[in-house]
Amino acid sequence: MEKQTNGKARTNDEEKIQESHEAQANMWKFVFGFTELAVIKCAIELGIADFLEKNQEPISLNQLSVALGCCSSSLYRILRFLINRGIFKETSTKSGKSGYVQTPLSRLLIKEGENSMAAFLLFESSPVMLASWHNLSARISSKDNSLSSFEAAHGKDVWKYAEADPKHSNLLNNAMACDARIAISAIIDDCPEIFKGVNTIVDVGGGDGTTLRLLVEAFPWINGINFDLPHVASVAPHAIGVVHVGDDMFNYVPKADAAFLMWVLHDWSDEECIQILTKCREAIPQDNGKVKILEAIIGEKEENIIRGSNNKKLKDVGLMLDMVMMAHTSNGKERTTKEWAYVLNEAGFNRHTISHINVVQSVIQAYPSRFLPCSETNLKCKLCWFIFKVLKKH
Ligand SMILES: C[S@@+](CC[C@H](N)C(=O)[O-])C[C@H]1O[C@@H](n2cnc3c(N)ncnc32)[C@H](O)[C@@H]1O
Repeated sequence: MEKQTNGKARTNDEEKIQESHEAQANMWKFVFGFTELAVIKCAIELGIADFLEKNQEPISLNQLSVALGCCSSSLYRILRFLINRGIFKETSTKSGKSGYVQTPLSRLLIKEGENSMAAFLLFESSPVMLASWHNLSARISSKDNSLSSFEAAHGKDVWKYAEADPKHSNLLNNAMACDARIAISAIIDDCPEIFKGVNTIVDVGGGDGTTLRLLVEAFPWINGINFDLPHVASVAPHAIGVVHVGDDMFNYVPKADAAFLMWVLHDWSDEECIQILTKCREAIPQDNGKVKILEAIIGEKEENIIRGSNNKKLKDVGLMLDMVMMAHTSNGKERTTKEWAYVLNEAGFNRHTISHINVVQSVIQAYPSRFLPCSETNLKCKLCWFIFKVLKKH
């Protein structure tokens, strides 16, 4: 009996030691977590993926270091680190020597490519964006929580900063265009029906217009209005079927059959989202207009983190994005289905549907409640006109 108890105690002790070793190994990963971002950034800047992509054959270390003008022993160590993470692969050349080739992951680091994610990584790893992370705990422990980590680091919010620094604005717009290529290709494949019968779309906070360019290419009957702040709209590249309009979405949203918002509402508080969505509701027809929103949806406790996502690997991205919103915006956040229902209802949308597609964002389609007056009296609106007449009588 005593022997058995000792055996059990020993097993428990061994389990505890094993758990503690595992915890330590995991903690080292967090301690040096930044190395992955930094080394991938270095690989993009060196152009390793771009050079390998141009060559069909495996490229030796010597060829690569000569072509990129790099120190070969350092390049070897960079490649060894990345290969360990599935970025690049070592294989044999025809002559039996060792050489490097691309992998699906390293192809995402090609600078100019429809599927490239390089621009996003360069933006998030820029000194400007990284600076906010140092102020996160100070922001959370401050009583009013009003000054964002970004503002504490730079003295202005992320949009004002971009307006004043065209180079950073370009970095931001390129990063957003990079995500737009991924998300819009998924929406075109997974739910093309949502664009049936839609002749005009206003993309609110549409960045450089990549979203509308891709939608108009796929659904050529659509006329696109790419709407963003003047410093963004004025430098957006020309695209067939798309006009760029610069203004402030808190003041005005151009009229269209449908309003589209991707990764815009998560930058703002509930109250600000309600203001933006109200402007969108007023910009679309009350009887058959729609607002289409692409945002990550955070799961409730008992749900998957991203509900219905086909790809479990994406589930954590929503939670990471929520932290990014905390670091980079004043009051932005990723929302649960309940939180989405609240802001949509408050903005005068009494019905909405959610479709999950194979990217980090889900598609929310919101339908305006009928018979809601505008936020400011608009005598062109039948309901405002009717209320105006009734009030005038009394
Ligand atoms: C996170 S980016 C998303 C860009 C684009 N929708 C995409 O997903 O590729 C947010 C966009 O909102 C724009 N924005 C911020 N404040 C705005 C305002 N008051 N009026 C119009 N656009 C605004 C920014 O300039 C930026 O292009």
